[in-house]
Amino acid sequence: MFIKKKRGWEIRESEATPEAVFRDRRRLIQAAAAGGIAAVAAPLLGWVGAGRAADAMPDPTADLYPAKRNERYQLDRPVTDEKQVESYNNFYEFGSDKDIADAAQALKIRPWTLTIDGLVDKPTTIAFDDLIRKMPVEERLYRHRCVEAWSMAVPWSGFPLKALVDFAQPLGTAKYLQMETFKDTSFAPGQKQFWYPWPYTEGLTMAEATNDLAFIVTGAYGKPLAKPNGAPLRLATPWKYGFKSVKSIVKLSFTDKRPATFWEKLASNEYGFWANVNPAVPHPRWSQASERVLGTGERRPTLIWNGYGEFVAAMYDGLKGEKLFV
Ligand code: MTE
Repeated sequence: MFIKKKRGWEIRESEATPEAVFRDRRRLIQAAAAGGIAAVAAPLLGWVGAGRAADAMPDPTADLYPAKRNERYQLDRPVTDEKQVESYNNFYEFGSDKDIADAAQALKIRPWTLTIDGLVDKPTTIAFDDLIRKMPVEERLYRHRCVEAWSMAVPWSGFPLKALVDFAQPLGTAKYLQMETFKDTSFAPGQKQFWYPWPYTEGLTMAEATNDLAFIVTGAYGKPLAKPNGAPLRLATPWKYGFKSVKSIVKLSFTDKRPATFWEKLASNEYGFWANVNPAVPHPRWSQASERVLGTGERRPTLIWNGYGEFVAAMYDGLKGEKLFV
């Protein structure tokens, strides 16, 4: 498929979409403009409405926020404005541009369950609202560096991924952890784009998954996580490019085989398994030397491991033959 050779999430929709589908969509929009707008909008409002109706209920985890800040993780820049973080997103399940915040309100986050399977002592499925009560919730200030060369700094809340791995009790034979996003075209229209390998999956080695920095995010800015950022639970691995930070997770699978990830399946030469941040290793089509800070537009030099080398660099000592920075 031509998207493999072209760019990932930076391509314009007309380029990323097979021409016939793109033309059909344009016809739909033209029809709407010509007077059929109610007919077009009604089903859209239907699925946004379902997600929003559930939001009228009080969030049963609201009492966990704001969580106590873990001071071990400090920023070298101001926190990014909350509105920016919640309105400039990559969440392809809801569309392939940055402006998906409204569409993402259709995401139904309750009830929400997490399935744990593969190489574990006892496969299980647990409700998110029960799981979080078993986890040590705290706040951490983290930088986030997208492979597209923009960055932000966010007060995430959540718990160490290691606590979840301990809960899952993987077998000694587990070498990798694969994480998977929901798949439901009834509210996620992006998943009708059949040329993407849905569901979104990502993976870490067990060493990475149990590293202190690997964090499951359930909140931000002292509140439960906003839907555009991947509610109710998403990953944050701040030393890696942002596409590793899989959103709205429904499944963890422990495995002895390296998982093929969403973007790797589309363009493995551009978005690899490791994807560690390194200003000296350019993306095949653009430089990674600096980054645009979301909100202020300031350009800053990018830091190796996104500035988190003291926590993570030693994990990669024996892996010099791997493409660690793609
Ligand atoms: N997870 C899913 N399920 N779908 C996505 O499209 N995009 C990734 C990552 N996780 C993505 C995802 C990319 S490319 C980035 S940069 C971050 O989410 C963006 O997170 P943010 O929207 O909270 O800034």
